Amino acid sequence: MDEVFQGQVAVVGLGYIGLPTAVSLAVGGVEVIGVDVNEATVEAVSRGELPFVEPDLAIGVSGAVTMGRLTATTKTPEADAYIIAVPTPFRDDHQADLSHVRAAVEEIAPRLRGGEIVVLESTSPPGTTEGVSRWLEELRPDLVAPHTSEGVPDFHVAHCPERVLPGRIMVEMITNDRVVGGVTRRCAAKAASIYRVFSKGEIHLTDAASAEMAKLVENAYRDVNIAFANELSLISEELRLDVWEIIKMANHHPRVDILTPGPGVGGHCIAVDPWFIVGAAPQLSRLIRTAREVNDSKPHHVAEQVVAKTERFRNPTVACLGLAYKANVDDLRESPAMDIVTDIADALPDLDLRVAEPFVDHLPPALDGRPHVRLQRVHEAIDDADIVVVLVDHDHFRSLSRSRLEGKVLYDTRGIWR
Ligand SMILES: NC(=O)c1ccc[n+]([C@@H]2O[C@H](COP(=O)([O-])OP(=O)(O)OC[C@H]3O[C@@H](n4cnc5c(N)ncnc54)[C@H](O)[C@@H]3O)[C@@H](O)[C@H]2O)c1
Repeated sequence: MDEVFQGQVAVVGLGYIGLPTAVSLAVGGVEVIGVDVNEATVEAVSRGELPFVEPDLAIGVSGAVTMGRLTATTKTPEADAYIIAVPTPFRDDHQADLSHVRAAVEEIAPRLRGGEIVVLESTSPPGTTEGVSRWLEELRPDLVAPHTSEGVPDFHVAHCPERVLPGRIMVEMITNDRVVGGVTRRCAAKAASIYRVFSKGEIHLTDAASAEMAKLVENAYRDVNIAFANELSLISEELRLDVWEIIKMANHHPRVDILTPGPGVGGHCIAVDPWFIVGAAPQLSRLIRTAREVNDSKPHHVAEQVVAKTERFRNPTVACLGLAYKANVDDLRESPAMDIVTDIADALPDLDLRVAEPFVDHLPPALDGRPHVRLQRVHEAIDDADIVVVLVDHDHFRSLSRSRLEGKVLYDTRGIWR
């Protein structure tokens, strides 16, 4: 029988990944202590409330807290296992910023008593997990670190990347297969026991660097394929062809499956992770780098097109639908829609610009305080607009009545109204 973890788990970082993981473990019967540097997050979770929007998670948090299986704190406690789910953004030079991982490790190190499992879930460049083992060795020279011994170390270190889809996290957390890469085989086996508490997917064991790279490769694969669709959309626009029709026709080929173009690529994963591969092997990652550049240039192109469309109006009103980085979520991180609206507002500071985003109550700081930019309900924004720009394919926008759009100039970057 494969081992199933028993004991107390501290989940460090209670964001989109850490909190669902904490809830899944708690629902699976494990005592979980959530740790976050953000006091508001800790207070919300302690009250059994959700600090962000994610379907089915609210009921999980309130249930786990009510049952007494999930608590939250700003201080890293002693525990039998630690799951690190802190941000790993990139710096201006596109190298990974591992400062949050290092900070989490510095809090864990003094709590180690022997026998613990430390799992890095944060998406990281190859070598980071072994780096965590080295950091722990440096901070706790009294303990035997796994990278120094194939025997029984004093603590175990592994990487288990997360590949859930925001909006379906609570389903995919349970059903997705997991890749668990250990600094040693023993580390991988120990870490896998944690995921057996709640995962119904297969758990594949490997080494730490392969697990790190597999996660990056998954997202680079998506990015390259989206870049192909986005490049087709630019070429089609230049040639005055309908990219949606072309892709639909091409996809009738039995071995062709072109993805959908859009206003760019956003979020915390696909827009970030490929850079970690480029950073690790800059000379060789030519296709991956170019895909990033194609996808990153798309928002500026969309903004320029919208600005050009305003030229035929004397005092135009533009309604931009959506700010989130993808459909049906409230996450604005790395959002191409945010870049587009900001670019338009920068280019035309006097333009009457209406923004409809059903998932937020306030304009984010980059747009707030601009006198001519307003957050409105979608119907109000559209009714007043001369130009309507679809930036996010929220269900809310898909279901809009076409009659509302009559007589308006439409720019549908998502193809939802074809
Ligand atoms: N969001 C996704 O869809 C997704 C999917 C797969 C992988 N990932 C990866 O998972 C990791 C976490 O992403 P996320 O979306 O959950 O981020 P997030 O920003 O939603 O959450 C991170 C949390 O960590 C907290 N934090 C930061 N430093 C800390 C520290 N030193 N100690 C304790 N808490 C700390 C923050 O306050 C925040 O609440 C990243 O590496 C990301 O790339 C994210």
